[in-house]
Amino acid sequence: MSDTSPAVHLVSHPLVQHKLTLMRQKDRSTNSFRRLLGEISMLMAYEVTRDMPTQLIDIETPLEAMKSPVIDGKKTVFVSIMRAGAGFLDGMLNVVPGARIGHIGLYRDPKTLVAVEYYFKMPQDMHERDAIVLDPMLATGNSAVAAVDRLKETRPRSIRFVCLLAAPEGLKNMQAAHPDVPIYTAAIDRELNDHGYIVPGLGDAGDRLFGTK
Ligand code: URA
Repeated sequence: MSDTSPAVHLVSHPLVQHKLTLMRQKDRSTNSFRRLLGEISMLMAYEVTRDMPTQLIDIETPLEAMKSPVIDGKKTVFVSIMRAGAGFLDGMLNVVPGARIGHIGLYRDPKTLVAVEYYFKMPQDMHERDAIVLDPMLATGNSAVAAVDRLKETRPRSIRFVCLLAAPEGLKNMQAAHPDVPIYTAAIDRELNDHGYIVPGLGDAGDRLFGTK
């Protein structure tokens, strides 16, 4: 992993921006919200994997033999931060079907505000894998920082962070704590409100995704 300042990649593709606008609408159904997140995930997978290493393999076209590039999807691990990170998984796996999946569950202790881990499961041989951490909302950044802290203990070959919306506070936190982790986001919103929600935002991503409110 590089030790230079991290890049923040704003995925400004019109298809992503259009779908994000639809997702922000408060009357959008759970079904539609989930489908749109799936579609955006595929488009963001395209960006986050742009510089994935490829290797040449020998194949035969109907006309002749040739060497042609392939990626090794098994070297990629998508790490979903529970629970909203799950909304990114299907779309990403459509594009990189050979990827493995890890899960991190964290909650914030209401008294100490410390992130407490309740679940952590990664594939074997993390040192051979490129980790792509998924969480739709980078709000305070506290859980993202804690998740990446924990993930680094497994020594993956590289780590990238993908979200749908980022607040300036969350970006600042992540960049201070993990300057080696590039961040991919579809938008950087204005601020966090007093309840820790991103504004204008899209509300609680987990509730909207799973229909729990
Ligand atoms: N998590 C969410 O789901 N939404 C926010 O706005 C902030 C954190």
